[in-house]
Parts: sequence; C-alpha cells; structure tokens
Amino acid sequence: MANRPENRTERDYLVSEKGLRQLFVLGGLGSVLIIVIILVLLSAFPKPVYKPLDRSQLEQTVAEAAAKLEAYNVAEDGSVTVPIDRAITLVAERGVSAPFSLAQTTPEAPGGAAITELPDGESLFVSSCAACHQATGQGIPGAFPPLANNVPALFQAEGGRDYLANVLLYGLQGEIEVAGQSYNGVMPAWQQLADEEIAAILNYTLGGWDNAELLPANFADYSAEDIAAKRGQDLNAQQVYEIRQALEIPSLDELPLAVQAAPGEAKPAAFDWQTLGANAYANCAACHQGNGQGIPGAFPPLAGNLAKIYNLEGGREYLINVLLYGLQGQINASGQSYNSVMPAWPQLGEENIAAVLNYGLTSWDNETLLNDFSPILPEGVAAQNGQGLSPQQVLEQRQSLGLE
Ligand code: HEC
Ligand code: HEC
Repeated sequence: MANRPENRTERDYLVSEKGLRQLFVLGGLGSVLIIVIILVLLSAFPKPVYKPLDRSQLEQTVAEAAAKLEAYNVAEDGSVTVPIDRAITLVAERGVSAPFSLAQTTPEAPGGAAITELPDGESLFVSSCAACHQATGQGIPGAFPPLANNVPALFQAEGGRDYLANVLLYGLQGEIEVAGQSYNGVMPAWQQLADEEIAAILNYTLGGWDNAELLPANFADYSAEDIAAKRGQDLNAQQVYEIRQALEIPSLDELPLAVQAAPGEAKPAAFDWQTLGANAYANCAACHQGNGQGIPGAFPPLAGNLAKIYNLEGGREYLINVLLYGLQGQINASGQSYNSVMPAWPQLGEENIAAVLNYGLTSWDNETLLNDFSPILPEGVAAQNGQGLSPQQVLEQRQSLGLE
C-alpha cells in the first residue's frame, strides 16, 4: 500500500494566486536587475585603446632579466657581451647553434700560429694608394712611380720581398729610377695600417695589372705575420732608400717566368694553392708536426726532407705517389730510420694533394733548398692517380731514387 497522507483538509493548488503575484513581481525585478547588470558589464568591459609603451618600464624589465643571467655584461647601448671562458662553458653546456660557422674560424698554421684572413687588398689600394700611383698602377711619370711592371721586379731582387714590406712600413725617400724615368719624391709610411691590411695591399699590387704574369710560380703571398715581423725596425725613409740602392733589381726580361706560356698557347689558369695547402696541412700536422720537424723515430721530418727528395729525378712523382697511395716500410730520413706506415690520402682530392705538397715544399726552409721549383698542379696529381700502387710499391719507388 502507498504511504500517502490520509487527512487533507484543503486542496493543495500547484500554483496559488498569491504565489503567481509574487512570481510576477519577482520576475519583473529580476529582469530589471539583469538589464542593469548587462549595462554595467558593457560599460566596464575594457575597450581596445592604444597606449604608448612605457619605455622606462621595458628597460627595467630587460635590466632585471639581464641581472638574472649569470656572467653576462650588458653594455650601455643594451647589447650583451659574454666573456670568452663563459662562452666556452655555454658552448659546452648547450652546443653551438651554427656548427658550420666553426669551420670558418681562422685555421691553425703550422707552428700553431693562426693564419689571419686578409681584407680586400683592392679596395684598400684604391683608398690609400691610388691617389698617387693611380688605380691602373701606372703612376704619374715624373711624380709617382708605376707599380705595374715594377713591383714584380722589386719582389724578385734578392731582399726585394722585405724591401717592399719596409717601403710600406717606413716610407721611401731619395732619387730612384723606374722604367727609364726618374723620381725624387717622398713615399709616406703606412704604419697606421694593420698588418693584414698591408699584406693585402702588397698582395694586390703583386697580382694586379697583369703583374702576376711576371711573378715566379713559387711566389708566396704576404701574410699578416710577415708584416708583423718587419715592424719595430725603426727605419726611416732614407734608410729604406739605402736598402733599395743595394738591391740588384732584375730587368723585366730577366725575370724567371716559370709560368710563362709559349706565344699563342693558352695560359694555364693560375693554381691558387697557398691557403688551400696551409689548410690541408692540418691533416698532416698531428704526425709530421706544425713545424714540419716530425717526431724522431716515429714520424719523419718534412722540413728539409721534402726539398731533398723533390730535387732528385723522379722525386716529384714519388711525393705525389706517397700522398695518393701511402708508404710502408723501412726508410731513412735526415739520418734517422723509420719503419712505419704513412696513410694514403686519396680522400683529400687532387687539388688539396697538389696544394699540400706545394705548401710543404715552400715551408720550413725547404724553399731555400729547392733547386728548381714549379708548383705541383692538380693535373699533375691526376696524371698519377689510378695506378693502384700499394704502399710497398711506393717504398720501392723511393729506393729507386737512390734513397735509403
Ligand atoms: C702621396 C702620394 C703617395 C701615396 C698615397 C702612396 N705612394 Fe707609394 N710612392 C710615392 C712616391 C713619390 C714614391 C717614390 C719615392 C721616391 O722617389 O723615393 C713611391 C714609391 C712606392 C714604392 C716603391 C717603388 C720602387 O720602385 O721602389 C712602392 C712599392 C709604393 N710606393 C707602394 C705604395 C702603396 C702600396 C701605397 C698605398 C698604401 C702607396 N705607395 C701610396 C707616393 C705615394
Ligand atoms: C698518422 C700519421 C701521419 C699522418 C697524418 C701523415 N703522415 Fe706522412 N708519414 C707518416 C709516416 C709514419 C711516414 C714514414 C713511413 C715509413 O716509415 O715508411 C710518413 C712519410 C711521409 C712522406 C715520405 C717521406 C720520405 O722521406 O719519403 C711524405 C712526403 C709525407 N709523409 C707527407 C705527408 C703529408 C703531406 C701528410 C698530410 C696530408 C701526411 N704525411 C700525413 C705518418 C703520417
């Protein structure tokens, strides 16, 4: 049975008249209230208005953020610098964002000194020298001597290489004769230029205006280090003049032109091996050492040794083969014996092999021991590639040169 209240006295209406009235009043009040709330909300809602950025506040935020970073310095202009040891730690912690930019850093030269990248010699020449010597290098007859067809001759006089660096560092004053014309002016000193700028300018004058055709093939560019070595001599322009007077300057037709092409024959494109060779030597320095001295008993020296081998008939070809095919067995170099393996370097490519050999042949005094040097060209390496020699066969070739 359902449990329902039994004794109900009056009927319960679901909605009474009184309730309806109250509901109506409350409903009216409620809608008024909702409209008011909507109006209030609408007026209070933030409108998108542009407010000028508060710079001082921004700066404060940046300063606070910077203060939280460790070991950074914020300069007055807002730039941030990081001390080098901190940078190294950061690189170790976080890695480098652009790893290839590392390869662009200055390569190590043999001996551990960094090879300085040179600035653009041509634009430096135009800004510092062209006013007098002219952009064409022709100078102005009677006033400013030509550098075209003159610098290569100076360079090839014994001591000429140093003389040119000295002219730039200390100036020149006194009567000189160039191409049948005499000059008696003053060449200002250029001490204020950086070493690498002077080197770049000299290299430009050596290679510009067809001067390169008058240079020997084993010509090596000036480096910033070459110029640095000439500073501090305290010479004056007259003393440099005395140095010039003592030079035996060859005439143009006496210049030994190793790369001179026969008339009518296309000139071989210049093979720019200097930088290539210095960089490729990084592969060799671990064993043969940066100074080419090797390690007695373990790695034979290249200093002195390369020139001696090169001077032998067939020596040039042998050297190329060592790089292409390696070398293994008992050898004697500079009075010391070695019995080890020289790895083959075909992966360097023909250009780098030629360049690294030229580099070695013109470094560590080898250049002074060479009888008659013309740089090894990539074509020369290519000509010996593909013989499939073994390191032992290269050893036999070494023995056939008359070397122990
Ligand atoms: C203000 C004019 C002037 C400027 C600028 C000048 N030179 Fe000279 N240069 C001379 C004169 C003049 C001589 C010859 C001096 C003499 O008669 O003894 C000379 C001589 C030289 C020589 C020696 C030539 C020789 O036959 O021995 C070289 C090399 C040279 N200048 C290179 C340069 C280079 C590179 C620059 C730019 C960095 C430069 N000069 C800027 C006026 C100038
Ligand atoms: C892993 C060590 C090592 C590296 C790297 C190395 N060499 Fe050698 N190299 C040797 C050894 C060891 C010998 C002597 C081999 C023997 O005893 O037969 C040698 C011999 C040579 C010879 C012959 C010397 C002679 O008297 O006949 C030349 C040339 C040479 N190396 C050049 C280079 C060049 C250039 C490079 C860089 C591309 C290079 N080597 C890299 C270890 C090395």
